[in-house]
Amino acid sequence: MKKIRKAVFPVAGLGSRFLPATKAQPKEMLPIVDKPLIQYAVEEAVEAGITEMIFITGRNKRAIEDHFDKAYELEAELEAAGKEKLLSMVREVIPKHIHCMFIRQSEALGLGHAVLCARPIVGDDPFAVLLADDFMQGAADGVGVMAQMTAQYEKHQASLLAVQDVPLEQTKQYGIVSVQPFAERCEKVNAIVEKPSPDKAPSTLAVVGRYVLSPHIFSYLEKIGKGAGGEIQLTDGIAALMKDETVLAYRYDGRRFDCGSKLGYLQASVEIGLQHPETGAAFSEWLREQRHAG
Ligand code: G1P
Repeated sequence: MKKIRKAVFPVAGLGSRFLPATKAQPKEMLPIVDKPLIQYAVEEAVEAGITEMIFITGRNKRAIEDHFDKAYELEAELEAAGKEKLLSMVREVIPKHIHCMFIRQSEALGLGHAVLCARPIVGDDPFAVLLADDFMQGAADGVGVMAQMTAQYEKHQASLLAVQDVPLEQTKQYGIVSVQPFAERCEKVNAIVEKPSPDKAPSTLAVVGRYVLSPHIFSYLEKIGKGAGGEIQLTDGIAALMKDETVLAYRYDGRRFDCGSKLGYLQASVEIGLQHPETGAAFSEWLREQRHAG
């Protein structure tokens, strides 16, 4: 049985919803309190036992490569200043047993195309896909969403899409699935469509940015043409894969913040600010005072 060891992070997007903040820096480097979004996603993958991190990058994304590389000057200065705690924080951004690989997607042809760019490294292995702007907080017992999904994969040996219910008027922002019963938290996907309008949506069950995929998806991604929005859609590749293989929709245990939107980003910042060991207590008190003052 194959285990999931490889994860693909499509990070070539322009981040136009966060301009001007993303004019000269990748949206994936926007911090939630003190850690960039991409680091949270990589940590979620590491927790799931994934060791090979494949980033599909584009122009203006150098900061991501630098973030996961050694920072010689910074480390030397922190060491000389005896700032041990900060030094180990910087060094531990990426644990030693993890490998990072970078592939340039030179044209923005869509999420399906970005995933296809990972084929030379993924080969014949099942793999995970994590969209860093979907910021996921794991279950109350501490298990992250990707770790939940790799455990489900080991059980069912089938591709999995993380899903959640969304309000009907939001179907046009997501891949939407229709499903039939399969197992606890897992349903079998019968149909999937990219960003349908509410009157065309087969349900209100939306795909969020976590996937475990069979490598057979690549041959479909290669063949399908442009779909919704004129882009090569991962959703269309999954729809094609489903004709040959079981694809499961997994109702993850946890919370998602849509950090591709300003509101979701603010909500994640407040939530993590409240949980953070350094800021939590004082921030919570400040929020209370603001409410009373208002
Ligand atoms: C992408 C996918 C969509 C999925 C969504 C989850 O859309 O194409 O199927 O539901 O991510 O966040 P995007 O948000 O990149 O437009």
